[in-house]
Amino acid sequence: MRIAIGSDHAGFPLKERIKRFLVDKGHEVIDFGTTSQNSTHYPLFAREVSLAVQKGEAERGILVCGTGIGMSITANKFKGVRAALCFNEYMARMSRLHNDANVLCLGDRVLGEDLALSIVEVWLETPFEGGRHAKRVELIREIESGCP
Ligand code: RB5
Repeated sequence: MRIAIGSDHAGFPLKERIKRFLVDKGHEVIDFGTTSQNSTHYPLFAREVSLAVQKGEAERGILVCGTGIGMSITANKFKGVRAALCFNEYMARMSRLHNDANVLCLGDRVLGEDLALSIVEVWLETPFEGGRHAKRVELIREIESGCP
């Protein structure tokens, strides 16, 4: 899978760890930065990853900041992006099964490394269930298309 990834300074260590994990699993990773723990601004990276997913340049996106909150708020401003902030494997699984989430947001300051990687693994492996959930995702699209 081709996966776009990005973080701010707070998410940088976990972003680097996730990148290695993904490459080891055979995924293609497009890294939009940041490149160090020097202070920066999470919307810059959420924007790049969200645009890559929106344009189909990446199948999925992963964003990491301190809590994951700023990344999820920003990513969900982009049409076609369904960003899910996940704290555990259950949320990761449900975000795929029911919401067809195409961007995963994680918080470096609130997750241990092993848990974060386990969330990523579950999120990548779980398919969208479709059926009644497809109707609900379609309703999201309709709302999006009418948004100012
Ligand atoms: C940075 O200090 C922090 O605010 C940011 O990483 C993120 O947690 C925002 O939602």
